Amino acid sequence: MQVTASAPGKAILFGEHAVVYGKPAIAMALSKRAQVKVTGRLDKKIQVNIRDLGIKEYINLKENIVTSNSPEKGILKYVLNSVKSVHQESGLDIYIDVNVPIGGGLGSSAAVTVALIAAVSKYNNIDLKKKEIARLAHKVELEVQNYASPLDTIISTYGGLIYLKDAKKIISLDINHDIPVVIGFTDSGGNTMCSTDTGKLVGAVKIRKESYPEIINPVIGSIEALTIEAKEAILNNDKKRIGELMNINHGLLDALGVNTLELSNMVYTARVAGASGSKITGAGGGGSIISFCPEGTEEVIAALKKIENAFKSDISKDGVKTTLKEVR
Ligand code: MEV
Repeated sequence: MQVTASAPGKAILFGEHAVVYGKPAIAMALSKRAQVKVTGRLDKKIQVNIRDLGIKEYINLKENIVTSNSPEKGILKYVLNSVKSVHQESGLDIYIDVNVPIGGGLGSSAAVTVALIAAVSKYNNIDLKKKEIARLAHKVELEVQNYASPLDTIISTYGGLIYLKDAKKIISLDINHDIPVVIGFTDSGGNTMCSTDTGKLVGAVKIRKESYPEIINPVIGSIEALTIEAKEAILNNDKKRIGELMNINHGLLDALGVNTLELSNMVYTARVAGASGSKITGAGGGGSIISFCPEGTEEVIAALKKIENAFKSDISKDGVKTTLKEVR
């Protein structure tokens, strides 16, 4: 039997970091998807092939080990914990194409985790509802990263455009208009792999919040207020407001300490090239930016590509998907 599964990466439009403190966030599923294929094998080994990273390693569920400790193979920890959550004994060959730019705050680890849990559970004839897939995937992210809101794993599981109310209630924003965005991302960013750096950045914000509560708590409160306002702006397709709110959100993320020179360069390059708004997306610290581009998409992509990388994305309606095939 062979099971394939895929799940989308995500971009946060509004509210990252504040969501860790129970505030709302708005995120979309990207058109880039992690792909996973699972087949059985005769021995009891579990081999993991991550094709776009050139990784071929064995993982040992019982002894909780991956055979490599090198940081760029940090993804294997997500793989180990994901497989463990729905599998026990038998041997497996697992093939993964991450596809989502890695370590850039675009939910690559969540996409791999969600797709793997869906594929391996289906392989084992376990019928998991989406809610359960999202719950298990969030648990894996918590185990590996120490900190994680359920946002990434929810978006990868359900797809679409989601308003996460109070960091937990999922409200799907069904809109009939496009939210045209360009994602800029850096290869040279701080994160080597869908990594524990999210945990570090969340931890750094926590320290700043504890060091300056009177200053940082209102910043988080402002992110909450602008996210609530952004929801209305998105529903009303108020392009000017969406752009302005993104720019404000970027300034507040800078205040939280997660900005970098590369991210700043991309954010301002996108604005100069015609984006209505642009901001860090995800944890920051070297990953990605999102630009709202009702006009001038091509110009923004071209300008970003001169300094880093960029792609256009639509909102992907599809969350996690699995296919089962009998093989002889
Ligand atoms: C990471 O993509 C977004 C953060 O808000 C952390 C989280 O929500 O898990 C920084």
